[in-house]
Amino acid sequence: MVAAQRLPTALLALATVVDVSLGSSLRRLTERASLASSASSTAPSSVPSALSQLNATVGGRLKAAVPFESPCFSTVEGEATVVDSAACAAIQSGYTDPTFRVTHFGAYMLPQWETCQSSATTEGCLLDSSNRTNTDAIDGVNCQLGNVPPYYIEVASYTDVQAALAFSNSTGVRLSVKNKGHDYKGRSSGKNTLNLWMTGLQSISHDASFVPEGCTGVTYDAITTGAGVETQDVYEFADSVSRTVIGGYHETIGFSGGYLLGGGHSILTPVYGLAVDRVVQIKVVTPDGEYRTANECQNEDLFFALRGGGGSAFGVVIESTHRTEPVFPIQAAVLSFTASNSTDLAAWYSLLIDNSYQWANDGWGGHIVGASLIHVTPLLSTEEAQASMQPAVDFVTARSGSVTIEEHASWLSFFKKYVTSAQAAVGPELELGTRLIPSTFFSTSEGRTQLSALINETLSFASPYIVAGTPWLFNATAGATAVTPAWRDAIWHLSIKWQFLYNDTLDERKEGYETLEGHIQDFRDLTPGSGAYFNEGDVYEPDHETSYWGDNYAKLLAVKQKYDPNGLLDCWQCVGWKGEDDDLYQCHIKL
Ligand SMILES: Cc1cc2nc3c(=O)[nH]c(=O)nc-3n(C[C@H](O)[C@H](O)[C@H](O)COP(=O)(O)OP(=O)(O)OC[C@H]3O[C@@H](n4cnc5c(N)ncnc54)[C@H](O)[C@@H]3O)c2cc1C
Ligand SMILES: *[C@@H]1O[C@H](CO)[C@@H](O)[C@H](O)[C@H]1NC(C)=O
Ligand SMILES: *[C@@H]1O[C@H](CO)[C@@H](O)[C@H](O)[C@H]1NC(C)=O
Ligand SMILES: *[C@@H]1O[C@H](CO)[C@@H](O)[C@H](O)[C@H]1NC(C)=O
Ligand SMILES: *[C@@H]1O[C@H](CO)[C@@H](O)[C@H](O)[C@H]1NC(C)=O
Ligand SMILES: *[C@@H]1O[C@H](CO)[C@@H](O)[C@H](O)[C@H]1NC(C)=O
Ligand SMILES: *[C@@H]1O[C@H](CO)[C@@H](O)[C@H](O)[C@H]1NC(C)=O
Ligand SMILES: *[C@@H]1O[C@H](CO)[C@@H](O)[C@H](O)[C@H]1NC(C)=O
Repeated sequence: MVAAQRLPTALLALATVVDVSLGSSLRRLTERASLASSASSTAPSSVPSALSQLNATVGGRLKAAVPFESPCFSTVEGEATVVDSAACAAIQSGYTDPTFRVTHFGAYMLPQWETCQSSATTEGCLLDSSNRTNTDAIDGVNCQLGNVPPYYIEVASYTDVQAALAFSNSTGVRLSVKNKGHDYKGRSSGKNTLNLWMTGLQSISHDASFVPEGCTGVTYDAITTGAGVETQDVYEFADSVSRTVIGGYHETIGFSGGYLLGGGHSILTPVYGLAVDRVVQIKVVTPDGEYRTANECQNEDLFFALRGGGGSAFGVVIESTHRTEPVFPIQAAVLSFTASNSTDLAAWYSLLIDNSYQWANDGWGGHIVGASLIHVTPLLSTEEAQASMQPAVDFVTARSGSVTIEEHASWLSFFKKYVTSAQAAVGPELELGTRLIPSTFFSTSEGRTQLSALINETLSFASPYIVAGTPWLFNATAGATAVTPAWRDAIWHLSIKWQFLYNDTLDERKEGYETLEGHIQDFRDLTPGSGAYFNEGDVYEPDHETSYWGDNYAKLLAVKQKYDPNGLLDCWQCVGWKGEDDDLYQCHIKL
């Protein structure tokens, strides 16, 4: 039912190009079409001498990948092998621990992206995330690489990236880029690609009077991070130099990679902006092979595109520099109860909807997961925070729930106490459908009624996961970033989830995607003209150009064509996407 409504994606992409660049060219359209039809790929294993030459160029840092879970299996890629029980036990125990997964090239946070989902029978190597010792997942199963790139470079410098681009250009082997592997749409893996693993770029430094290269008379208190630095490490480092950085709600997300390039929300975003609002310089190898510095004084078009245009489309980031804030106290509100029934849960969501406009104006940001809420604000005193949260406190107290409202001396103190135990799960095969919900659904009684009614209807399928993490109070510079302008008027980033099982059949996987899409479509229909978060969208987002970038798309496409004239970087639903029939997406299901 849902699939029948969808235009073939390639057609849809072309239709949108016509829409946004009317007048600017039929020529572009023809080029795009021919690019799309010629997009095939070469398997790296078919060019062994070029590979060994590449390995020499990158100092021996070219590696062959193995499936993350392979130590548990007695058949790997069709060959009998010996099970390594100790290594397998470590994998079983670390299966849902992001700090364990992040150290393995073959591991992805959403493990379905390790597998070739389009295959009729499971082509991958997963454990059962709900019962990691389940022998059904292991016995008699052929463990395969699936969608994991067979070769990767442990990138140590920008010259490694240049070597990979030249290699791809001359051999036809396609590239993929991985940092910490959190991508929800499979954009950091790819069957038969050569992958650039950015995780080793671990430099981090603080400069209280950072001047973007080429600028005069502009300084920022800023922290510069190598592409591979993890969020939690940036928090610790900033705190050690008595500063605060604004970042995501998870330990292991890379601070400079996909998170930054796609937008980057934080629960402090309502006051301090998105990651793209706070970045002041990005050093990047563009697909034409040049190592460039992009900031407000040079390569401004590229800087704009990197501020929300999305990961691995405009280049491979080597490092980025971000404004900091002093260490400041924050008020935290942590509430939870047990909902007796779905009417009660619907009443809770209604109460949240009724209060969220005021809360947004009070500087609150946070997450709502079913019958629980964790919010923070840097703008109120503890007494003011209590008064602001009173309606929610009364509701939860009446249900004998738990309520904490307390001041933390720093973001790091709050993060360590609450976030590492509440952050989103990794290990289970989750997929998302999301929508940015505009302010009128909170500020008007008609809007509130409509949103409450739709959430009530949705509860029989799923409890929406809400991020109050939009730049509501932040004074953004108009035109500086590429994210959809819908971010600026939204108060919630709402998501609903579907969970696959390790052994779902192709039909079950299709059904999962279609069911989720049907439900998130209701939220799109409720909010015409709004958009969605590029990093956390539906894999099959319809009219993704408009959803993710709004009227910035035409400009982004021009920047893409300028810096990637030979189409060496491509990713699913990215700017200039070659479309789902491209070889790069052979493991994505075509619905
Ligand atoms: C558990 C979990 C919690 C999350 N919480 C938040 C949150 O609080 N706030 C938020 O905004 N988002 C959140 N996200 C989404 C997250 O920001 C994105 O998935 C982000 O892209 C992850 O970055 P990564 O380095 O881990 O991803 P990867 O999967 O390694 O890469 C993601 C994308 O970026 C590209 N890329 C990676 N490195 C580079 C580079 N150096 N140069 C160019 N392109 C690159 C990849 O090719 C890919 O397209 C969360 C995701 C998960 C799984
Ligand atoms: C690349 O070279 C290093 C060092 O010589 C070697 O250890 C590694 O196995 C090579 N990589 C591949 C894929 O052959
Ligand atoms: C987990 O798997 C093991 C081994 O297959 C099985 O014995 C056990 O019953 C399973 N546990 C649950 C909770 O399903
Ligand atoms: C790719 O090849 C083209 C044509 O041979 C050349 O002009 C271009 O510089 C190459 N790009 C890279 C990144 O090597
Ligand atoms: C649902 O729970 C609420 C709160 O506990 C209670 O007042 C109400 O009677 C319950 N409704 C049903 C239909 O059980
Ligand atoms: C909520 O949904 C249920 C059905 O799931 C319906 O019976 C009820 O009337 C709805 N409540 C409101 C307030 O819309
Ligand atoms: C945004 O600008 C307005 C008007 O200049 C100012 O009152 C407000 O404090 C600013 N907001 C933030 C979060 O800095
Ligand atoms: C998937 O695995 C579960 C648990 O091991 C099992 O009950 C179910 O039958 C399996 N499904 C398929 C399609 O094999």
